[in-house]
Amino acid sequence: MILQRLQIANFRCITDLDLSLTSPVSVIAGPNGAGKTSLIEAAYYATRGRSFRQPRSERLVRHGQSTFRIVATLQLAGRERRVGLEYGRGVHRIRIDGADARNLADISGKLVLQVIEPEIHHLVAEGPEGRRRFLDYGVFHVEPRYLPAWQRYRKTLKQRNAVLRAGGSAAELETWDQALVAAGELIDGYRNGYAQLLREPIAETASRLGLDRIDVGYRPGWEAGQTMLNALAANVDRDRQLRQTTVGPHRADLRVTWSGRLAKSVVSRGQQKLLASSLILAQARLLAGLKNDEAVMLVDDPAAELDSGALARLMRELEDMPGQLVITGLDANIPGLPESHDVFHVEHGALQPEP
Ligand SMILES: Nc1ncnc2c1ncn2[C@@H]1O[C@H](COP(=O)(O)OP(=O)(O)OP(=O)(O)O)[C@@H](O)[C@H]1O
Ligand SMILES: [Mg+2]
Repeated sequence: MILQRLQIANFRCITDLDLSLTSPVSVIAGPNGAGKTSLIEAAYYATRGRSFRQPRSERLVRHGQSTFRIVATLQLAGRERRVGLEYGRGVHRIRIDGADARNLADISGKLVLQVIEPEIHHLVAEGPEGRRRFLDYGVFHVEPRYLPAWQRYRKTLKQRNAVLRAGGSAAELETWDQALVAAGELIDGYRNGYAQLLREPIAETASRLGLDRIDVGYRPGWEAGQTMLNALAANVDRDRQLRQTTVGPHRADLRVTWSGRLAKSVVSRGQQKLLASSLILAQARLLAGLKNDEAVMLVDDPAAELDSGALARLMRELEDMPGQLVITGLDANIPGLPESHDVFHVEHGALQPEP
């Protein structure tokens, strides 16, 4: 077990919940509004430092309270680790193994944790930001030099954009371009290499889920065939007009196609969910394999949007994944669930005693 225990206080509808996970497959069952997604969200938050459905963390604090707290006990690389988070207005505390920490990188870099939830089709259907984040999660896990390069890039980009906002000249901009390109090309190289690693596994997973001829292609954030430096130079007038840098790794994308066409425009909502799940599952499997570790899969309401055949194929993929599965459902009878599993009932944001 990787995720061994979750203690959650004042997070959404959850007042006070203490959950110990002892089986590789745990089912969280309960009616609408019981707090199932909130529980999954808290597990995600404890290890990723943000929610997958609410970008504004203050909205996660239970109404009438000032902060939420989550403590996750994990088993990582043969060691027990404890992450504690407290968040609220003016409060943002992270503790790792009993000591204050600045961020979760030390934990999240060692843990492969992915979520499949009812809104996951956004990964395919919406703009590139989600796909960049998805790609970056993987790159961050396999390339230790990625995070510092990304931080340098972000900082330099901010400075270049500040010059643009102040109406700076092309010559003033050029002073930032070298540093921007140096970090940008590193990021591009790491992303490109990782995207190549993902390509086959995604196509294979999609095929097992019932979608053939799926392909993903990395787009660097500027026109193909150009260097980043050339692209910056070619777009300097537009950048000055729009007062922001319009080319670079911050505009990268992972293009997902089905038979050569952009998938989001040709596949149905359920198929988008399957496709997004293929990306997530392929990534979890790849990263767990590369790290020789297991993955934690958080799966919220897998049946949403899927027909019975598609659900059965998704469940088979989840069963085959080496690692831990935490899955929610309105009741515990999720079709295709591995035989051996624990069930926890939640209602009104609290664990219910076994009947
Ligand atoms: N900040 C908050 N404070 C208090 N309650 C909240 C807060 N945010 C959300 N809630 C409530 O938490 C409840 C549980 O939501 P959650 O999405 O976890 O339910 P669920 O069990 O996943 O339900 P469903 O089966 O419909 O998906 C909802 O009734 C919601 O109104
Ligand atoms: Mg829910």
